[in-house]
Amino acid sequence: TTSFPRFTREEVARHHNEANRVWVTYGNDVFDVTNFLELHPGGKSKILLAAGGALEPFWALYAMHKQDHVQEILQEYKIGELSPEEPPLPSPDDPYANDPPRHPALRVNTLKPYNAEPPPELLAEYFLTPNQLFFKRNHLPVPVVDPEAYRLCIQSPSGQTLSFSLQDLKQNFPKYEVTATIQCAGNRRAELNAVQNTNRLGWNIGAISNACWGGARLRDVLMQAGYQPGYDGHVSFEGLDKDHSGTVYGASIPFQKAMSPDVDVLLAYEMNGEELPRDHGFPLRVIVPGVVGARHVKWVARITVGPEESKSHWQQKDYKGFSSSVTWETVDFSKAPAIQEMPIQSAITEPSSKTSVSPGELKVKGYAWSGGGQRVIRVDVSLDGGKNWQEATLTGEEQLPGQAWAWKLWQLDTFVPPGTKELNIVCKAVDTSYNVQPERVEPLWNILGVLNNAWHQVRVPVEE
Ligand code: HEM
Repeated sequence: TTSFPRFTREEVARHHNEANRVWVTYGNDVFDVTNFLELHPGGKSKILLAAGGALEPFWALYAMHKQDHVQEILQEYKIGELSPEEPPLPSPDDPYANDPPRHPALRVNTLKPYNAEPPPELLAEYFLTPNQLFFKRNHLPVPVVDPEAYRLCIQSPSGQTLSFSLQDLKQNFPKYEVTATIQCAGNRRAELNAVQNTNRLGWNIGAISNACWGGARLRDVLMQAGYQPGYDGHVSFEGLDKDHSGTVYGASIPFQKAMSPDVDVLLAYEMNGEELPRDHGFPLRVIVPGVVGARHVKWVARITVGPEESKSHWQQKDYKGFSSSVTWETVDFSKAPAIQEMPIQSAITEPSSKTSVSPGELKVKGYAWSGGGQRVIRVDVSLDGGKNWQEATLTGEEQLPGQAWAWKLWQLDTFVPPGTKELNIVCKAVDTSYNVQPERVEPLWNILGVLNNAWHQVRVPVEE
């Protein structure tokens, strides 16, 4: 074993910025992570919070770092060890101690922050996903909010801050109900990770769910605050979920979308007829039908209108699409627009590759959805990898043209001929603009691992 130089915590603390190089400690080890700053998937500003000190309190907050691949990256930057005389750090309080209980059926990607999806077998069983099974995508601990004390702050056109209680929003604005599917940009990232690991949450096909949302229309609230349609800017949202530095989750949508009477952007306080659950933004969240999950800001507490998009990391440096050729060294985030409306998508939920089927009658099931209110008009299913196709039967709620915010569930009742050894089940959906899913996943690979909508494929052995 190599022996490393020894440092005191005081020496480490002197290396707290790029000019003096950025050192951090983890356990007894000392690392110089200066050359990793630009490569960090969570952004440079985040690592700088730990500069000169211990990673533990920060990784207690972003516990997805306690994975092998992150430890391996860190080890590349090891330069020394702490002197044996240095006292150990007290273990940090768990910032996730107040997170709510969750349903055991959910497949957990990371516990802290909590990111989990329903198993495929349950996902397409319900047109409206039960709240407990609805996929959960948190970036930070779930904030504890007192609904009595809660206020939504909106900056008016004259710069005044207006504040609305939950009661104001429920009593002074008409309640709208909208059935809308939410999909994470990283849905089906596991297939991209199989091409080349992006080292980001390995979502299977379940980072998508559907619910009926109830709340006030954002348009009505913005008009009450003094805004008029016809402005070419952006509406930015901030949540109450925050990290050590006080940085809150944030995102924005175009003002035109927020004000459109045809989009039904909501400030929702209900989910499937129940009070919004804590994991889904209690007491208030934004719902932007047809748009990527990242903009549906949960625990929303502050709304501003201005000429620019949200300055948040998640608006500027994440949730954007790039060519497969772009690397972390060459990426220019300012070149790509933030993902808003999502492309046509579908997936097979049954049968799963973990089971086998018998010759004879077979039921194939799944979901299909397209962004921007485009209706899904057809789902084609093949049992032989795409040579022969059959059309599935679609079920769902009728919604107005251009406002098809909810997914369709689909089913194909078909027949497996005797003698078949294996099924290579493939599905692809088509929307009203005849947008169709691309065949192969490889050309869709991108550093962030987002926007995978390739034909979904499941191989299932046939046993007599
Ligand atoms: C994400 C490495 C320090 C905050 C990540 C990921 C890696 C990584 C590999 C992607 C993980 C995944 O999605 O599975 C490191 C290393 C660090 C470091 C080697 C050593 C210095 C920090 C610190 C903070 C931080 C100190 C916070 C103060 C984040 C955030 C994300 C992230 C916010 C993105 C999470 C998301 O996509 O929601 N980091 N990190 N990291 N990291 Fe770090």
